[in-house]
Amino acid sequence: MNSPFSLEGKTAIVTGASRWTGKVIALEMAKAGADLVICARKPKPLEAAAEEVRQLGRRCVAVPTDVEDAAQVEALVNKAKEELGRIDILVNSAGTDIIKPSMDLAEKEWDDMVRLNLKSHFLCSKAVASVMIEQGGGSIVDVASTAGLRASPTSSAYGAAKAGLMHLVMTLAVEWGKHNIRVNAVAPGFIAIPVHPGYLEHFPHLKAIYDRVPLGRGVNMEEVAWGVIYLASEAAGNTTGVTIPLDGGMTCMLG
Ligand SMILES: NC(=O)c1ccc[n+]([C@@H]2O[C@H](COP(=O)([O-])OP(=O)(O)OC[C@H]3O[C@@H](n4cnc5c(N)ncnc54)[C@H](OP(=O)(O)O)[C@@H]3O)[C@@H](O)[C@H]2O)c1
Repeated sequence: MNSPFSLEGKTAIVTGASRWTGKVIALEMAKAGADLVICARKPKPLEAAAEEVRQLGRRCVAVPTDVEDAAQVEALVNKAKEELGRIDILVNSAGTDIIKPSMDLAEKEWDDMVRLNLKSHFLCSKAVASVMIEQGGGSIVDVASTAGLRASPTSSAYGAAKAGLMHLVMTLAVEWGKHNIRVNAVAPGFIAIPVHPGYLEHFPHLKAIYDRVPLGRGVNMEEVAWGVIYLASEAAGNTTGVTIPLDGGMTCMLG
């Protein structure tokens, strides 16, 4: 018998999977046994990521998609159904931050943050849920952020979108529970990405933050993936509507 933490025999879509966290989620899910469809906008790095997954012996199809565009999301879901037969898991990992003080943030930048970090997750979840309803169930996992749990200066639009995302997770969990669809999220703190462009430049206080994190470090991309796998798996079969912080205890602190 499979471990309840295994994804053996499961099929999944992972968005934003061409690099860093989303790619590591796809690789770890493949190691856990899942066959995948992965998406991002740029075809070349996406196909390279898909090839890395295939090297692990799993099926992986790259479908270049802008998840902010409802028609492209529909096409992605149709392609995934055609390629994989069913969609057991959706991981919404596509997302990014614009790091600026609120007074410098342009209206377009606000809209960009909300469209990618909140609206696109709704579009993908809704499109996949219609397949999951036909199938009799499924599991959706969103990648949120601790920026949505606590104030994060210079990330007002991103933080507000991620806070909205965690609320959306609760609402969809309540609406779709009757269809046996679970909806959950992980909220990573600072993800330890080896060469995230400009990261330390934008966060000169990062070391000071790490010094104040109870576990003393950022979260590794693999640890984010394992949180996602837990929520996607049968091991979390009675868990829905929750967001699990993966932050070394950072959000527990008063100040
Ligand atoms: N980095 C952190 O410290 C941190 C902390 C907490 C939470 N998170 C969250 O973790 C997730 C991954 O973060 P990351 O830093 O690893 O991301 P990243 O390096 O910015 O990568 C984002 C991924 O999403 C894709 N993407 C961006 N816009 C897209 C769109 N419109 N349609 C489809 N795909 C799109 C990108 O590929 P293309 O450009 O080719 O589309 C790429 O594959 C995000 O949701 C982020 O908010 C990150």
